[in-house]
Amino acid sequence: MSPVRRPAITARVTDAAAFGRVAVLMGGTTSERDVSLDSGRNVLAALKSRGVDAHPVDGIPALVEALKPKRFDRVFNILHGGEGENGVLQGLLEALGVAYTGSGVLGSALTLDKIRTKQVWQTLGLPTPRYVRLLPGENVEQAAHEIGLPVIVKPSLEGSSVGISRVFRASDLPQALALARRYPGELLMEQLIEGGEFTVGILGDEALPSIQIVPAGEYYDYHAKYIADDTQYLCPGLTGAAEEELRALASSAFRAAGCAGWGRVDLMRDTQSRNFLLEVNTAPGMTSHSLVPKAAQALGIGFEELVWRILESSCERGRPC
Ligand SMILES: Nc1ncnc2c1ncn2[C@@H]1O[C@H](COP(=O)(O)OP(=O)(O)O)[C@@H](O)[C@H]1O
Ligand SMILES: [Mg+2]
Repeated sequence: MSPVRRPAITARVTDAAAFGRVAVLMGGTTSERDVSLDSGRNVLAALKSRGVDAHPVDGIPALVEALKPKRFDRVFNILHGGEGENGVLQGLLEALGVAYTGSGVLGSALTLDKIRTKQVWQTLGLPTPRYVRLLPGENVEQAAHEIGLPVIVKPSLEGSSVGISRVFRASDLPQALALARRYPGELLMEQLIEGGEFTVGILGDEALPSIQIVPAGEYYDYHAKYIADDTQYLCPGLTGAAEEELRALASSAFRAAGCAGWGRVDLMRDTQSRNFLLEVNTAPGMTSHSLVPKAAQALGIGFEELVWRILESSCERGRPC
């Protein structure tokens, strides 16, 4: 059994019964619980409206209980954050032989770790901002000097922009480090890319139209993501060859990281039109203001159809629908 899952090679699914009984896994215990419950409710409603025998399950322990008596045939994973996106859930489901949506063990585990994802991209010549892995005792002033100010300091394993600071003066480094250190795992210091921010949704083999994110504040921080309603989303984010190039880069980065099924790649584009990969999200939001649904809509793929196609990503060789 390969940890890198491949999308289905079978034809599209037309009969909802072919999916069997589906658990929509949501909630969990991370800081992203509420967003996940919101996403999960939307996914559940969409599946039911298309005739799928779908049921909500809150968190991994409840799923394990339900899987013992084999109450489900497959899992739609919409558990955001480490719990749902770090490969552990995927390993559990592989071991139990239960089909699931999205990336497998390798792609999930790798992309939850920003440092190691960048190492893979770098090895393959895919562009990502210069960075230094901040080990305990690291001379941070020296690191900032190597990269060149301004820099961004972030925890390697977090999401939702938590623990992230932009640093323009060396005197602000200690504060940025103190904030990032509140979170578990390693830290990284990255070259701050000044320019535009983009995200590209991936659905099956296709990169969806890009979205340019234009926060009203300084950058796409926690507030801009979940609280402010003045963040602008432009879709498609670019036109012509530039848009094609951005989508192709996102697709390559996604596959290079061993990801499959669906997800979202975050990027920056500097003032000289050079693209830089930031990170991959393997179970991105599906709320009313989430970005993958916006991008799918730009192709005429409505929310219900999007959810159906994501569920199709659980139909694989050896586990057909
Ligand atoms: N190297 C960078 N240059 C400029 N902005 C960045 C950089 N890295 C992160 N950011 C900003 O911080 C936000 C969150 O960073 P990201 O790496 O996507 O982590 P996460 O979304 O998992 O918290 C990005 O959406 C972007 O606004
Ligand atoms: Mg991000």
